[in-house]
Amino acid sequence: MAYWFENPTLKALAPLALSTSIKGLTTIFNTPKMFIGSNVFPEGPVVGPSTMDSIGPRCPQKRAFIVTDDFSKRFAIKAVRFLESGGFTVQMWAGCQPEAPIEVVMECAQAIKAFEPDLIMSVGGGSVMDSAKAAWILYERPDIADLRMISPLDKLNLRKKALMAAVPTTAGTGSECTGVAVLHDTAVHRKIPITHDELVPDFAILVPEFTLTMPPNLTVGTGLDVLAHAMDAVTTPAGNELTTPLALSAIEMVFQWLPRAYKNGQDREARHRMLLAASIAGVAFGMGGVHLTHGLGHSLGAVFNLHHGLACGFFIPQTLQFCSTITDKHLLICKALDIPAKDAGEGLSKLVTHVRSFMASLGVPLTLKDMGILKEDFEAKMDRLVQYAYEDVDNYLSPRPIAAAQCSQVFQYAYDGRDIDF
Ligand SMILES: [Fe+2]
Repeated sequence: MAYWFENPTLKALAPLALSTSIKGLTTIFNTPKMFIGSNVFPEGPVVGPSTMDSIGPRCPQKRAFIVTDDFSKRFAIKAVRFLESGGFTVQMWAGCQPEAPIEVVMECAQAIKAFEPDLIMSVGGGSVMDSAKAAWILYERPDIADLRMISPLDKLNLRKKALMAAVPTTAGTGSECTGVAVLHDTAVHRKIPITHDELVPDFAILVPEFTLTMPPNLTVGTGLDVLAHAMDAVTTPAGNELTTPLALSAIEMVFQWLPRAYKNGQDREARHRMLLAASIAGVAFGMGGVHLTHGLGHSLGAVFNLHHGLACGFFIPQTLQFCSTITDKHLLICKALDIPAKDAGEGLSKLVTHVRSFMASLGVPLTLKDMGILKEDFEAKMDRLVQYAYEDVDNYLSPRPIAAAQCSQVFQYAYDGRDIDF
């Protein structure tokens, strides 16, 4: 057993955790303190409450370690100046790599240990925020030798040494509001999702200006990631009365604001709303979970080297259709989007059409064929596609369990864009 999610006890407990009677025993609603807007990193005098009023008193050593990457360090410099103006001694580490490889996380942890901060702040996209979370675990718990075996049931006892702040520079992953960190086990080319309540950052700091330079394809990819998180968070049985309205709100926001952010990257209002939508969806799926969009999308993305959000967002129609034999929660999404439906069947059909035309308007291919995947290549890699999808931990939270043969069928149907009818 190399990963926590291969533990047979956890696998057995996952479906139980989704039953209403068990879920009712303890439900924790866990969010960071959030700061949102253009002036959350003021460097001069401030009228009214400021970000520093919340962070400063909770970090008495005033030592901040900023985790970033080569691209995002241009934004991190603003955070450095802000922290220094609040009396912090700051060190910036810009060594993060895409996909958060474990060996890079270990390097980051070494640098954190040498500096001994009482605040760790990540500034970057999902990989940066996830790397910082994992390095934080190693800083707080030097006794943990293997990040791959951290289970959600372990007690980590973080925050003995440092608090965590996350500053996203993309509007997609929602990692600033979740207890999830996805790392890359480079030795075996496998994603390791660590999910733990204690990993939810203490502070999420949203600066819309940091997302203005995202090119249109990244804007769409990350935006579809938000939509996939929110759609799954509505239909999963692990959702509740707190998470479902948040997910529905995020869905409405994506339909309203993503086209504007796509057409004009400098549209500050659209960027602001999309950044907020990503965090709202993060709060919702951080507790309710994502399922088949990500189970299938992780596999597609890994095998054909596609952007995470594009690969996961691609499977929104198929996921809605596959799960509709078990749940009619997609009607909640119809209602939020003002799609009239007299029954679950009509709602599903109209919603899928709506999602597909939305995706097409953003230039997103609706079939795997149109993604440029050649038939021979697709068939040659089918076994690997199915294996990765079937083994993906996110499937645990699907309202309808999916068998390996069904994963294969979904991929086959998705190649030509056929509707799921099984
Ligand atoms: Fe995602």
